[in-house]
Amino acid sequence: MKKYKIAVIAGDGIGPEVVNEGMKVMKKAAELDGRLSFEFTYFPWGCEYYLEHGKMMADDGMEQLKEFDAIYLGAVGFPGVPDHISLWDLLLRIRKDFDQYVNIRPIQLLNGAPCPIENGTKETIDMLFIRENSEGEYAGAGDWLFKGKPEEVVLQTGVFSRKGTERIIRYAFETASKNGKTLTSISKANALNYSMVFWDEVFEEVSKGYPHVKTASYLVDAAAMLMIKDPKRFEVVVTSNLFGDILTDLGAALAGGMGLAAGANINPERIYPSMFEPIHGSAPDIAGQGIANPLAAVWSASQMFDFFGYEDIGKQLLNAIEELLETQSVLTPDLGGTSTTSEVGDAVVDILTGSM
Ligand code: NAD
Ligand code: IPM
Ligand code: MN
Repeated sequence: MKKYKIAVIAGDGIGPEVVNEGMKVMKKAAELDGRLSFEFTYFPWGCEYYLEHGKMMADDGMEQLKEFDAIYLGAVGFPGVPDHISLWDLLLRIRKDFDQYVNIRPIQLLNGAPCPIENGTKETIDMLFIRENSEGEYAGAGDWLFKGKPEEVVLQTGVFSRKGTERIIRYAFETASKNGKTLTSISKANALNYSMVFWDEVFEEVSKGYPHVKTASYLVDAAAMLMIKDPKRFEVVVTSNLFGDILTDLGAALAGGMGLAAGANINPERIYPSMFEPIHGSAPDIAGQGIANPLAAVWSASQMFDFFGYEDIGKQLLNAIEELLETQSVLTPDLGGTSTTSEVGDAVVDILTGSM
């Protein structure tokens, strides 16, 4: 039996609440299958750790994480620690230092999930966002000059390297090609006259190697509108770090809400561990109440099974989520139910074991 070593960074707010349910489901799915098992190692890093130690993770944190097969993360950020510190020193640090340059975010409306638009169905809302995850608007390049003075100037520089742009676009073409889907690029070359002109050129160049993949290219403002008005246009989508961040929250809203939106931060070369997480944050407004929806965390666990090569188990988890949504019996308040986080986790386990 193959044993996978998973680093668990539950983090802040609802992070630990949802990750507990995800682990419950992962353990059960592995046990029922019999081919694999998990060894979870818990890291207490996050905002509480920061308030105690003055840092978001241990000094040798990245060294420690390197030894794992994957990282399972809850959420990072909480009032009391500035967001740009908590996120840059933990979540973004892991994405960057482990070169997790592909962020895969399925926007898929399952049967039974609520959809805010009229024409939203399982057939029309079925997208796979591939977000650049290592540079772009999130490069962290900039300066803050004459701080507090009348002549104050801040610079936040987008960094689009040829290597970084080409590899994410190529990854997206490979994904679209493998799945027989169209590929849509989302950019903004009319206003961003260096970075996005370059992005579009690279997209054009790489597309020549994939003549069988049908492509489309939209400006980000129009894309936001079209995702609502005509979502079926979008199958596989590739976009930059910031645009991908924003559009996948919009996508989450289309596909049932933040409680159902999952993401995988992938280092395709597998030199470093990849990281799996719900795309929502720590939700301070509902933290500690036991009512956070754990299904996004379960969905990201399903992505982890896929990544390890157990697509059949990944699919079982997704089917279990869908079955739960269809029966509408055990759901958290964000989905109109009255159940708790752990009741939802238990219900997924019951579906997997056939006892529900
Ligand atoms: P958020 O995703 O935490 O919450 C937005 C809204 O969605 C809130 O009303 C919240 O209650 C609701 N929500 C989110 N997840 C839910 C779930 N599982 N079940 C039910 N409702 C859910 O975004 P925010 O409020 O903008 O950010 C809060 C903090 O989280 C900030 O510190 C932010 O920087 C951080 N953040 C972290 C991550 C991450 O760790 N991946 C992602 C986004 C935001
Ligand atoms: C996400 C989050 C992060 C991002 C934040 C917390 C830095 O919003 O994973 O979508 O912008 O990437
Ligand atoms: Mn986001």
